[in-house]
Amino acid sequence: MEGISKVPSHVSIIMDGNGRWAARRGRERVYGHSEGVESVRACVEAACEAGVKYLSLFAFSEENWGRPQEEVGTLMELMMEAIRNEIEKLRGQGIRFRVLGNLSRLSPKLVEAIRGAELRTMPPEGKEPVLTLVVFLSYSGKWDILEAAKSLARKYASDPEAVESLSIQDFDNYLVTAGIPDPDLVIRTSGEQRLSNYLLWQCAYSELLFTDTLWPDFRKEDFFRALAEYAGRDRRYGKVK
Ligand code: FPP
Repeated sequence: MEGISKVPSHVSIIMDGNGRWAARRGRERVYGHSEGVESVRACVEAACEAGVKYLSLFAFSEENWGRPQEEVGTLMELMMEAIRNEIEKLRGQGIRFRVLGNLSRLSPKLVEAIRGAELRTMPPEGKEPVLTLVVFLSYSGKWDILEAAKSLARKYASDPEAVESLSIQDFDNYLVTAGIPDPDLVIRTSGEQRLSNYLLWQCAYSELLFTDTLWPDFRKEDFFRALAEYAGRDRRYGKVK
């Protein structure tokens, strides 16, 4: 990984194509998901090497609860296993781990493991993590915006005039991503070209990159290739240069 001139601070990935990857091999969909964990490891490594500060991954959407129970169960188990097996390694590397989404829908055991892992990987006071790894679980963009709006409505119920002075930055602070910069680059694998209710508010000015590569095949070289393409993009934020 050399010569990448403009490294994004936050890279976000919609990991897609696990089921198709498995089907092409005549295997069950869950085989694709477990191979997808290898791609997660590879991208974490690549992000650290490249100097990316935030890597976020769309692991399970609110809509994914509608998948067959067996598949949902396997995905939750994979998450639990990944926490059990990887968290000490992440901690050793100075990586902060966070999980964001509607966690009220997860099993209490998984929530406990998540909260424990978040605490274990919290950097000591005054120390910046090498990388913050954010996993979006049971997440949807519309849910996030609605919850923020509800919190604000509750907060300002007795002072409706104060609502007029709310800024976009104020609203940012009510989203689950409060304190995390918006993604600079969003990658979606498997050839699909949509956001699928992902970070709708936060992706307002993200660069979008779609690749045909299926998630289990997406490894370090693909990550670096995406960073190289990002480096060539001209971000104008609606202005003229
Ligand atoms: C989309 O592929 C992928 C998912 C819904 C799950 C992604 C989860 C992992 C890679 C494993 C757990 C993650 C972590 C962070 C440990 P799909 O099933 O929609 O594929 P298809 O479109 O080909 O059916």
